[in-house]
Amino acid sequence: MGNRRRTHVQAPAGVVGVISLMTWQRAIFSSELTEGNFLARVIDARQVLLSRISGVAHAVSNVCPHNGFLLSEGVSRAGCITCPGHFWRFDLITGQKQGDSSTHLSVYPTLENEGWIEVELPEVVAAKSLREILLASARGEDVSKDVAR
Ligand code: FES
Repeated sequence: MGNRRRTHVQAPAGVVGVISLMTWQRAIFSSELTEGNFLARVIDARQVLLSRISGVAHAVSNVCPHNGFLLSEGVSRAGCITCPGHFWRFDLITGQKQGDSSTHLSVYPTLENEGWIEVELPEVVAAKSLREILLASARGEDVSKDVAR
């Protein structure tokens, strides 16, 4: 959807530059998301799962961190969603997997503004080309985060 607002997250004192760039984006009309239900949306090529619990809109990643199934194809109950792949359950507010504090979904801030639910997402960063990675490696820079595993 078209309306975007950017938020720059400034580096702490003594550090030059911007740490990350977040973007508020309109996801759906507030009226579309009723109490206790969830809806999936693709926003800037990101799968987002929106839910409304106790009147508040929440947003988490719609992709299961286990094997990538879409959580929106699962079943929600009591503030949790069950993945259709292998039945892992995630809290729709915290993104936490039940019974495993080391596994969680990405959680995105939300707000309701002018009849819309907006979601704050990290801006998509273009991947580096192989040439850029090789040149950075030749300069002795750490490229481990740029290399697919
Ligand atoms: S893919 Fe979700 S639990 Fe396996």
